[in-house]
Amino acid sequence: MALITKAVKGTQDTLPTVSYKNQFVEETMMRIAHNFGFHEIRTPVFEHTELFQRGVGDTTDVVQKEMYTFEDKGGRSITLRPEGTAGAVRAFLEHGLFNEAMPQKVSYLTSCYRYEKPQAGRLREFHQFGVECFGAAAPGADAELIGLAQSIFDALEIEDLSLEINSIGCPTCRKQYHAALKAYFKVRETELCDTCRERLEKNPMRILDCKSPVCSAIAADAPVVLDYLCDECRTHFDAVQAHLDAMMIPYSINPRIVRGLDYYTRTVFEFVSDSIGAQGTVCGGGRYDGLVEELGGPHTPSLGFALGIERLLLVMHSQGIEFPEPDPCTLYIATMGERAAREASSIAQSLRGEDYRVECDICDRSLKAQMKYAGKLGARFTLVLGDDEIDKGVYALKNMKTGTSTQIAADDFIEEFMETADLDTETHLREMFGLGGDN
Ligand code: HAM
Repeated sequence: MALITKAVKGTQDTLPTVSYKNQFVEETMMRIAHNFGFHEIRTPVFEHTELFQRGVGDTTDVVQKEMYTFEDKGGRSITLRPEGTAGAVRAFLEHGLFNEAMPQKVSYLTSCYRYEKPQAGRLREFHQFGVECFGAAAPGADAELIGLAQSIFDALEIEDLSLEINSIGCPTCRKQYHAALKAYFKVRETELCDTCRERLEKNPMRILDCKSPVCSAIAADAPVVLDYLCDECRTHFDAVQAHLDAMMIPYSINPRIVRGLDYYTRTVFEFVSDSIGAQGTVCGGGRYDGLVEELGGPHTPSLGFALGIERLLLVMHSQGIEFPEPDPCTLYIATMGERAAREASSIAQSLRGEDYRVECDICDRSLKAQMKYAGKLGARFTLVLGDDEIDKGVYALKNMKTGTSTQIAADDFIEEFMETADLDTETHLREMFGLGGDN
């Protein structure tokens, strides 16, 4: 029985008392992404397992240890998406978006699934806001992307994040770097974990990302990729920095950033917080110039980033950032008797259609209990309806803040209510922003 009333380990509910915060950050992110020319793409929550094996890389922790993979009833191997990039690239290919004008820019809000050890800021089901830009090779694209992330953090008034950038080169410079890494790790091969011993031959860069304390201690002194960049990658990286300087976006170069997914080339970056514990990377991304080709498409230099919504909210809470409260109930209609209940349904239906938040009794409660509930909702106006009011055709609208009541003819109620409520909103806004009258 306990299993039925307990969410699966590493997952969490977002209740209405909290979800308005998620909505606020998500709307802000989508709005700003729109200003940068990114438009929403929605892809399925599950894909063929092979997409992630080929896309994310079969020597990554994500693919080797963390995927939720199962066989469906048709015998296909299916995986719940551990991240959003591979699915976006698959859709880009499937729908021939490479035939459209480049760059193609997409944004998404998705749930992702990774079988990781849950802790603060690390869940098995988590949510990402992400963007992908296909078909843009110039360094200005890398800077634009970082500028988008920075604009989101600025709009949300988040100060506690530092931007770290690195370049991990291209397949050409990677060859030499891999050789240097192999030589370095070979000497201490026996101390590495089983997975990293396997990685040594196939993809030694992955050892730099291993979470085991022994492997990460050994990796701390490993050669850094920046020392092995070819001329083209070095020039690209310098140009990205020049753009960031021009945009006055502060950053530091962290030669240890390699990212946990295999598709990256050249620029990689992370926005990191040190106020939310060990899982401080709130946003991560970079270039992946070879991925579209790797998955069967034409050569399409591309790049993107994703930002963890749960981690972002942790940072905002740790910084004490306040979220705009959802609008309170505008009108609560308390009723006595069936005629009044029908009239309340009719008024509520009309006003909701005009975009007002209206509530009425749907629990057959006493008048006292209804008024108590209206108080809990923070209703700005109340209307009490009974046979008497309906017979007389006059309704008393009460402003709960000032305590004043206004008599309104039943036939004019909808119109007069809207005028009164709008005037009240205006006065409230004027008071809030300290504005004077019109003269
Ligand atoms: P990632 O670094 O694996 O990159 O994830 C991006 C963000 O998702 C992280 O910075 C973190 O905020 C959040 N995140 C990751 N795992 C968890 C978890 N277990 N629990 C809570 N939050 C988590 C990617 O996923 C790439 N697809 C980003 C990208 C897009 N690169 C290019 N385009």
